[in-house]
Amino acid sequence: MKKPSISDVIASEPFEIAKNIYWVGKKTGNDLEMNVFLRIFEKGKQKINMLIDPGPPSDFDIIEQNVKKVLGNDYKIHFAFINHQDPDVGYNAIYFQRYFPNMQIITMEDTWRLIKFYGFNPKRYIPVDRFKSRTIKMITGHKLVFVPTPYCHFRGACALYDVTERVLFTGDLFGGLSDSPGFYADEQSWSGIKIFQQIYMPTNIAVENALGAIKRVDPSPALIAPQHGKIIKNEFVNHFIAKLKTLAVGLDLADQNKILVSQYIKAFNAIIQQIKLKIDKEIYDSIFSALFTDESFPEIFSIKDEEIYEVKIAVEYAMQFFLNNTLKNQSDQVKRDLQFLVLHILTDLNLPTENLNLEVDDATTNSPDDNFISEEASDLKEENTSDETNISHLNIRNLLQLIEDESGSDKFNELTVLRIMLKIPPDVLKRNKVNSYDDFFQLEETDDVDFIKYIIRGSEQILGHRLPESVLNQEI
Ligand SMILES: [Fe+2]
Ligand SMILES: [Fe+2]
Repeated sequence: MKKPSISDVIASEPFEIAKNIYWVGKKTGNDLEMNVFLRIFEKGKQKINMLIDPGPPSDFDIIEQNVKKVLGNDYKIHFAFINHQDPDVGYNAIYFQRYFPNMQIITMEDTWRLIKFYGFNPKRYIPVDRFKSRTIKMITGHKLVFVPTPYCHFRGACALYDVTERVLFTGDLFGGLSDSPGFYADEQSWSGIKIFQQIYMPTNIAVENALGAIKRVDPSPALIAPQHGKIIKNEFVNHFIAKLKTLAVGLDLADQNKILVSQYIKAFNAIIQQIKLKIDKEIYDSIFSALFTDESFPEIFSIKDEEIYEVKIAVEYAMQFFLNNTLKNQSDQVKRDLQFLVLHILTDLNLPTENLNLEVDDATTNSPDDNFISEEASDLKEENTSDETNISHLNIRNLLQLIEDESGSDKFNELTVLRIMLKIPPDVLKRNKVNSYDDFFQLEETDDVDFIKYIIRGSEQILGHRLPESVLNQEI
């Protein structure tokens, strides 16, 4: 069943992203949508129109209508810039060249060697490679800089920098999935960018090299306009450049620890099995179908006979993606059951849980990089944590009793303990020999001050009040 997307209700109207630069694409509602841009260079009576990555044939009618809406029925396209050879990037240029036989194609030689098979007129081709300075000036005085981004994801890929408006068109680099409303990227958009980049970029070496070239453009870009997903502006430009710089992508992921990967695959399948056994069949079906992307994007999980046998992005992140899709739009009860199940299975398999976000908001999908643990911890420290400095002894028996009394059910009791454990750094758990929630239940007391500090902080955050004297400062 196709997931409802905000794109279904947003009309594909042209949208001006900067002065005289319009998004003229088509909102399809698919996981992956194509951005097409129209740049108008204007001076006095002179008007030059350039399409940037004119998109795939399936979007042509809407793109053409949008161009007309911006330029009027009597429009003309003078240039098409093409980042790389993929049909989703530039196939429509051939239709536009049939309408406007003088339209010139600007692209790298490596790209031209392939796109020429679309049937372009070879006399109407301008190789980027011709410009040694990589800079051109339009007749209207506007300056454009070509920024080759080799192997991101094709050897002939080239970004285009509009110096006047400080907009950098990056093709697939910085591209992301269409998973939330709006044109502009925010923190949540990283999730879809990360998935797309991990699937399509070959290796971090290539990405880092391209980002180095982008860092050198002057003035620095105010806007990054990729061919998929959101437009990146303001503080998110440098923020996402920094994030992408250290991201393992493509072949880098083949270096993921094999034991860790197989543990995660075990965890995915155990969670799926348990959902089938313990939770409603209908919920199982909806959760299972949410693991599949639509035909616009490669599957993240390889599945056979309802079993996952391969994960195509970083496994820790795949777990967050899985949780986002699993927890979204479930009732509070089902959410609690699922959270419990997931924590139980991950803890049993000794997989880290401290960076997982289990509090998935239905309206958005959260990124695992939003480390809710440290945020909550620092908030509480300022507000209402018990004075930890004086506490050198903690009665865990009494604490567990308190949790059970307050939560009223065994299941929630265990979940609460797991959630407290999530607030404790792995090294602190390890030195106290706590590897699962069962180990925690076996504890009677501790005088490890760090351990005490984290338990108190975590308990107070989750219970929502200070711990009473019966738990603090008591010896057994
Ligand atoms: Fe591509
Ligand atoms: Fe693309």
